[in-house]
Amino acid sequence: MQIVHHLPDLRRAVADLRGGGARVALVPTMGALHAGHMALVDAARATGAKVVASLFVNPKQFGPSEDLSRYPRPVEADKALLSAHGCDLLWMPGVDDVYPLGFATNVSVSGVSDGLDGAARPGHFDGVATVVAKLFNQVRPDAAYFGEKDFQQLAVIRRMVMDLDFGLEIVGVPTVREADGLALSSRNVYLSADERARAVALPRALAEAKRAIEAGEPGAIHAAMTSLAAAGFVTDYVSLVDATTLGEPQFGKSRRLLAAARLGTTRLIDNLDVAP
Ligand code: PAJ
Repeated sequence: MQIVHHLPDLRRAVADLRGGGARVALVPTMGALHAGHMALVDAARATGAKVVASLFVNPKQFGPSEDLSRYPRPVEADKALLSAHGCDLLWMPGVDDVYPLGFATNVSVSGVSDGLDGAARPGHFDGVATVVAKLFNQVRPDAAYFGEKDFQQLAVIRRMVMDLDFGLEIVGVPTVREADGLALSSRNVYLSADERARAVALPRALAEAKRAIEAGEPGAIHAAMTSLAAAGFVTDYVSLVDATTLGEPQFGKSRRLLAAARLGTTRLIDNLDVAP
């Protein structure tokens, strides 16, 4: 696996990968990689594309009181994992390569960015859309892979790619979970042993709410919030939305149930599809 830190080297390396006419797939990450990230790499490789992963802890998507400085950075382990999964090229820009002095552009996708995590984390999705637009222009991939784990992020990026004619395919990959159902996340390392044991209440509450909604039973969202509170979570939201716009669910269209809740200082998110 080749590793590059500067844009001219990236351009050359991507051109080399394309040499034999191969398609190029991008997997954007912030590192602290786990099996969830690797599912994206594996899915990209399975198409026969050359795989470029990016590793950049993007300061623009962290709020002032969020965990930028303590975000885990196990760089050597990340490189080993990517290499073992057959990643061809790792793009690891420095902050100055992404946001040079005078950087003044903000990409803001209204509507789909506004509610849910957008309401709880002001500016977060502008930071995500801005850096992802930049990564798309730096790498110029044919396809890019994102996890359904961050469902609102995926919806924001799909909207941005349509609106700005990026002309690449966006692929959503199903959430990879621990044996007990907890979605893999770089932030799970912040959980104490006791919190980790209680964290399973989040996927369980969502699974039960999905079942109840699909069965037409009333009170599913309220019941999910009650189970989360019983496990010691402070809930930001549990919400059933249209799977594309993340607005009000529409009759006959796919729906998604999303939740964000805090256990101690750790904020966890999860989501499930709900039949129309
Ligand atoms: P990060 O949190 O590192 O996640 C990188 C990608 O891995 C995202 O597309 C995320 O949805 C996916 N992912 C994380 N956990 C997953 C799981 N359990 N199952 C499947 N996929 C999972 O998301 C970001 O970084 C950043 O916002 C980024 C897009 C890189 C922009 O900075």
